[in-house]
Amino acid sequence: MDNRPIGFFDSGLGGLTCIPYLMKALPNEKIIYFGDTARTPYGSKAPATIKAFSMQIADFLVQNQVKMIVIACNTVTSTCLPDLIKRYPDIPVLGIIQPAVDKVVSSCDSSNAIGIIGTKVTIKSKTYNDSIETLNPNLSIFSTACPTFVPLIEEGIIQNDIMDLSIKYYLDQFIAYNKIDTLVLGCTHYPLIRKNLEKLYPGVRIINPSEEIISSIDSALKKYDLYASPSGLGNIFYASDLSENFINMINRIFENSEFKVAFKNFDLDVL
Ligand code: DGL
Repeated sequence: MDNRPIGFFDSGLGGLTCIPYLMKALPNEKIIYFGDTARTPYGSKAPATIKAFSMQIADFLVQNQVKMIVIACNTVTSTCLPDLIKRYPDIPVLGIIQPAVDKVVSSCDSSNAIGIIGTKVTIKSKTYNDSIETLNPNLSIFSTACPTFVPLIEEGIIQNDIMDLSIKYYLDQFIAYNKIDTLVLGCTHYPLIRKNLEKLYPGVRIINPSEEIISSIDSALKKYDLYASPSGLGNIFYASDLSENFINMINRIFENSEFKVAFKNFDLDVL
């Protein structure tokens, strides 16, 4: 048994979309979450910048005695997962892309048209395409970047016409022209617009990496004997800019739950 927390991080509030799935599957686990809300979005930044920010945050999580790091961000995973694995040889470091790739490969065949959506950096990296192709070269993969989604979501502009218009701008043609029947939400912010996507494109099956990562976390906890026992410990959510949206989103996730939550604003100068 190991009651140290699991460290999660993302450029902002997107990685929070993993937490309800974690709470359901592994209710004894406690977390330290870091959302880099002061520097979001990462998805249009240079890979060197994303890598530098990610190292700072992961170092901070390790200083806070996490037993595992979950990169709850596709952009970071596609940019520097191998670097982070190398930097922390003593703890498991999990990326969010491979579990979703495994789901695609196990649930699709050559009759499917699979769409990958994500940030500019994630799509340009071709990490999804290459990882899927390595496992099954016969699958049809199409990908496109949707750069306005993250800023709108961070602003809380979700259930309304502005978001729907933005979705249609990027995806109407992409989905119709390629006859997409399976859509991978290749950015952890996107589950927050899942309802919009289901309304606009009924019949398209959605694969959600924020959900798929949980079985990998479970496997790693098992493999390294890191499961937590029930405890009264709380969860801590750090943000480099403790915005109202960030706090509201966390309160929504934990409402009706007895989990203890603490918020901390993080001074970027310390990083
Ligand atoms: N949630 C991050 C991802 O999964 C978003 C990136 C951003 O900040 O642009 O890629």
